[in-house]
Amino acid sequence: MNQKQYDVIVIGAGAAGMMCAIEAGYRGLNVLLLDHAPKPGAKIRISGGGKCNFTNRNVEPKHFICSNPHFVKSALARYQPDAFIERVERHAIAYEERDKGQLFTLDGAGQLVAMFRTELDWAGVELQLNCFVSNVQKGSDQWQLITSNGSLQSQKLVVATGGLSYPKLRASDFGMQLAQQFGLAVMPSRPGLVPLVMPARQQAWWSELSGLSLRVIASTARGPEFDGAMLITHQGLSGPSILQASNYWFAGEAIRLNLLPQIKGIAGWLQELKQQAQPLSTVLKQYWPKRFVQAWQDKFGFDDDLANYSQIRLDALAEQLTAWSLYPEDTAGYAKAEVSLGGVATDEVSSKTMESLKVPGLYFIGEVLDVTGHLGGFNFQWAWASAHACAQSL
Ligand code: FDA
Repeated sequence: MNQKQYDVIVIGAGAAGMMCAIEAGYRGLNVLLLDHAPKPGAKIRISGGGKCNFTNRNVEPKHFICSNPHFVKSALARYQPDAFIERVERHAIAYEERDKGQLFTLDGAGQLVAMFRTELDWAGVELQLNCFVSNVQKGSDQWQLITSNGSLQSQKLVVATGGLSYPKLRASDFGMQLAQQFGLAVMPSRPGLVPLVMPARQQAWWSELSGLSLRVIASTARGPEFDGAMLITHQGLSGPSILQASNYWFAGEAIRLNLLPQIKGIAGWLQELKQQAQPLSTVLKQYWPKRFVQAWQDKFGFDDDLANYSQIRLDALAEQLTAWSLYPEDTAGYAKAEVSLGGVATDEVSSKTMESLKVPGLYFIGEVLDVTGHLGGFNFQWAWASAHACAQSL
């Protein structure tokens, strides 16, 4: 049986775990990176439609949700997007910038995983895959792990087991359970960056329109407004603006849609249309897919001739167009969520080193922490930055 001894064991060979193991290896530490999955970096591979939105040119603390909003500042400041971009360029990986500073690989996310595998070798990190951890104990000056590959010991233990989204990619609550085993607080988890499901009685209406996309501003009572595409699905709503707003949505609450973000001053705009005697549906077709205009007209039974509208009706129409409140029944769950909100409470973790304040030698990085980024490469940037901060202190 394996009885090996390491300076550091990193559990979870995803985005954060690989980054941390590499940086710790470069610092001359004897590092084991282990994962229960057969391959490292499964989420990197499928992310961004297979192209991985690996960072964003404009990363600020406001792009993250965390019970303690100051927590992310130090790590993000010390490992900025340029540092990761430089790494990608050093490996000659072609990339492109899309809308809102989002950076994607051009030839596939597999290249990023290959980059990490190369650097794991350069850094002398030992990688054990298909390795299952059944028990973790802290001795007087050692961590002791019982695994399917034998008993392992280390000075430091880094937990990088991610969140609960995409269980088919071997996501697990291992990190949260371990935190609880050592008496650390864990914030309740829920799916984030996730499509929203409309109540069953409305699904026929949405289903008829599935596949259509239009630009909206989506918001909830608790979060910022998100301007971007909304995609109609068989069950309800998806697309970037909805995924973003889903992070701030709670069951029973409304999601508010401005269906005409292009129009500034809707009341004046409707008045103008009324004076010009323009049929409303003709104008809406400039902004919405034709089928959506028809379905919306049928649903609300609106009159195409604005000359027939009193001021009160015009105001109500303005409200329907720019503040349409919908009440989703649920989210599409972890199976469809890009991230999970919640995780190991940051109040009990050092924002500079990611070390537990209560349990010396125990570190948490990446999504297992109660830190969730907006859509746009922010979650990977958090994985890189938290891993880097941790590795410098090991
Ligand atoms: P990550 O999930 O990457 O890694 C955790 C690792 O721990 C996995 O390898 C897992 O097998 C392992 N593990 C779990 N339990 C274990 C156990 N008990 N024992 C051993 N190993 C265990 N973000 C972004 O910024 N841009 C994007 O384009 C996308 N796109 C995207 C698409 C989809 C479909 C998903 C599901 C997610 C994204 N994300 C994203 C989010 C991003 O993938 C995510 O935030 C990071 O991968 C988190 O990195 P971590 O290293 O923390 O966890």
